[in-house]
Order: sequence, then C-alpha cells, then structure tokens
Amino acid sequence: MSTSLTTVAYLGAAILFILSLGGLSHPETSRRGNLYGIIGMTIAVLATVSGPQVTQQGYAWIIAAMVFGATIGLYAARTVKMTQMPELVALMHSLVGLAAALVGFATYIDPSASAAYQGAEKVIHDIEIYIGILIGLVTFSGSVIAFGKLSGKIGGKPLLLPARHWMNLAGLLTVIYFGARFIEADSVGIGMTPLIVMSVIALLFGIHMVMAIGGADMPVVVSMLNSYSGWAAAATGFMLSNDLLIVTGALVGSSGAILSYIMCRAMNRNFISVIAGGFGTGAPVAASGDAQPAGEVIPISAIETAELLRDAKNVIIVPGYGMAVAQAQHTVYEITKLLREKGVNVRFGIHPVAGRMPGHMNVLLAEAKVPYDIVLEMDELNEDFPDTEVAIVIGANDIVNPAAQEDPASPIAGMPVLEVWKAKTSIVMKRSMASGYAGVDNPLFYKENNRMLFGDAKKMLDEVLGALKA
Ligand code: TAP
Repeated sequence: MSTSLTTVAYLGAAILFILSLGGLSHPETSRRGNLYGIIGMTIAVLATVSGPQVTQQGYAWIIAAMVFGATIGLYAARTVKMTQMPELVALMHSLVGLAAALVGFATYIDPSASAAYQGAEKVIHDIEIYIGILIGLVTFSGSVIAFGKLSGKIGGKPLLLPARHWMNLAGLLTVIYFGARFIEADSVGIGMTPLIVMSVIALLFGIHMVMAIGGADMPVVVSMLNSYSGWAAAATGFMLSNDLLIVTGALVGSSGAILSYIMCRAMNRNFISVIAGGFGTGAPVAASGDAQPAGEVIPISAIETAELLRDAKNVIIVPGYGMAVAQAQHTVYEITKLLREKGVNVRFGIHPVAGRMPGHMNVLLAEAKVPYDIVLEMDELNEDFPDTEVAIVIGANDIVNPAAQEDPASPIAGMPVLEVWKAKTSIVMKRSMASGYAGVDNPLFYKENNRMLFGDAKKMLDEVLGALKA
C-alpha cells in the first residue's frame, strides 16, 4: 500500500474512532459506536500491516502474533464475567504499557532508527523514547497492581509508607537527572544505563502509586491508568512516526482523563491528587466486610413488598453491584412491566459508580431491554425521592449510604449518593448485613422508614413477581 493511501486509511480510521467515542456516550447509540470502533480498528490494522514499513519476512510474525492475541482476547471475552471486567481492563492496560516500553527499547537499540536522526531531531527522538518508556512502565506496573487489588489477590488496604511523597519527589528528580544523562549519551551502550535506572524507578513508582490507594478508590485509578495507557500509546506513535497511533493514544488518554474527572466528582475526590498518586489516602478505607453493624433493622417479606409496590404511584428502583451478582435484571424488568401496566410510575436511578465499572448498571438494564427513558442518572431524579412512595434498592449499598452526607468522619463522606431514605418507604434487598465495597456500615438500614428484604436478589424478586401476579 502506498504512503498516501496509508495516510487516507489512517484518517478514515481516526474519524471512525471519534464517531465511536461519540456513539458510546449513550446506550441507544452504543452498539453503533462499537461497530464504528471495530471497523476503524480493522482499517487501522490492515493499513499498518500492508504499509511500507512491513517487509515480506515480517508477515509470518505478524500473523502468528495476531492469531495468538486474538485467541487470548476471544477466550477472555467469552469467559470473563461482567463483574470481573475492571480486572480484565486493568490487565489489558498493563499490556499497552508494556508494549510502549518494549517499542521504546527496540527503537533505541535499532541502529537504523538512531542513524536517521541528528542534532535537535535526535534530542527530540530520545525524549520521545525516554518519556514513552517512563509512562509505559508506570502504566505496566501500576496496572498489574490494580489487577491484583481488584481480583483480591492483593489486599485492598492502602500501603502508606512513611515520607512517601518525598520518596516520589526523589524518584521524579532522579528520573529527570538520568533523562539529561540519557540525552547526552552519544552511544547506545552509554545511554542504556540511565534508561535502565529510569525503568526501575518507573516500575517502582507504578507499584507504589497504586499500592497507596484504598480499595474504594480503585475505579478512578483504573480509569486513570486507562488514560496513562493512552498517553503511552501516543508516545509510541511519536517514536514510530505513526500518526494514527498518536491520534488514537491521545483519544484514549484524554477520554480516560475526562472519565476519571467525572468519577472523581461522583465520588467527591480531588482530581489533582489522583494524578499525583496520593489519592484515597486521607481517609483510609477498610477492606470489604470490616464494618460492624449497629442498631436494629426491620425485615419485610416478599409478599409485603409486593403489596407496597402495588399501592404506590411512584417507585424508584436503585440497582447496585448485588443485582449484577444475582443476575436479577430480567426479573426486575418483569416487575417493572407489570407495575407500569397497573399505572405505577417506575423509574431507575443510576449512580455513576454503581456496580464495579462505569455504566455497569446501564449495560445490565439494556440487556434486559428496560426502556432508556425510564433509566435516569442520579442528578436527574435525586430530588424526586420525597414524592416517591417506594424506593427499592437492589443489591446496592455504598451508593445509597446516608453517612456520605451525615457523617463527616465517614470514609465516603462527601460522596454524592441516591437519597432513597427520603422516600416514604425504602426497601433494601441484600443477603445479609454485610457492608459494600467501601467496607463501611450503612445507617440507611436502621432508619425507621427502611425495610430489609433479606435474600439473594434474584430469588427475592422472583417471589415479589409471583406475589404481584397472584
Ligand atoms: P456495594 O456497595 O459493593 O454493595 C453491594 C451489595 O450487594 C453488598 O452489600 C451485598 O450485600 C449485596 N449483594 C451481593 N450479592 C448479592 C446478591 N446475590 N443478592 C442480593 N444482594 C447482593 O455496591 P454499590 O452500592 O453498587 O456501590 C458500588 C461500590 O463499588 C462503590 O463503593 C464504588 O466506589 C465501588 N466501585 C465502583 C466501580 C465502578 S466504576 N462502578 C468500580 C470498582 C468499585 P450482601 O453481601 O449482604 O448480599
């Protein structure tokens, strides 16, 4: 393929990626967005593979790598559960980071690549390599730790080393110092030492940054690492003079940063301290299940729940992680349909960090074919709870915890929450008194107008559905 044809293909792919991101911003257009992304990526891969930089001998390697990668990807996509998605995403980010670092080393070692640059161009090229490897390795080690934390292989408690900010600062200054040595180096042999020193610091920094973050703050970290992996890819694009990789990396980098910002706002965290890696440490959060229940709760049966729902005019359903675990979304929709047929105004309230990944609840509700117009974001319906007869919480906990507003000492203080307790009656559906992801007790359970419907969400909702039909 000629260079100009490759450029046209890259341009087309870049436009498709932008359209893809636009499409993914709403459930109704997300399938189309996905399709644009797939077509864009297919064009990008074909254009790169048939481009002038690939030699005949290279094809066997490329085909073997594609078959290997596609097999793993297909296997992972088919076997990984929706609730394990953040772990998988973290693992994928680590590969992007590792790839960027390896490309950096390969570019530096390649004699033809270094011979092509002289003077100022060589300095810029060396800076690209240095920064690319730096971001790549921070992303790599940080993502591996994030994977370990999300999958429970590493404890959720933040590791707070003494003088850790000073250690980070010392690491940064060392990286800058060795960066200068690297650029000065006039041979690969001499340049390799500062590069390796920086690589070790980058790996340690990535580990330290994520180890210092509490379990409840992990979603933002995953999205931040997503952003870092984008910038690592963009740096690789500069190293390889590949415009599409620069554009794609910048799109991933900036959209990841925007998502992190939105999530920080949803969890009332400081965006800047996340970027600095000191996030979630002011109020360390206990690991899941640590909180001790306090006070008395009033249980309710499925039949009584059905009666309350039948008599209500307005019902708000708040789904959370437990709905995903129980796979109760289809039964939820059966109940919704039945109530709507009886003239009850049923709506869903979605918290931005409900479940375990952005858009988790939207995906499940879309899968169950719940109409989009009754699925509202937290801000769109939080004011409506006082006019609601029944607010039903399905396997959610942290996102409906009034302590976020009432207790300044709570680890989740300041996090915006769905104010279900303002409804005439709130019903919480869960299996026990166990705490949620943040590991904090929930005063909602002990409120006078709250009822607890204990049991697996799917089983209990089946019983409620049965009672409604009876
Ligand atoms: P959580 O606070 O984790 O609460 C989920 C509740 O579901 C648990 O208390 C659990 O109680 C219950 N549950 C589990 N399995 C169940 C089942 N089969 N049937 C009924 N209930 C079940 O969830 P949330 O309210 O959705 O809040 C999300 C939390 O995860 C936030 O702290 C957020 O920061 C964090 N997080 C979010 C994301 C993103 S991006 N969404 C990513 C990672 C972490 P029982 O054990 O008593 O049943």
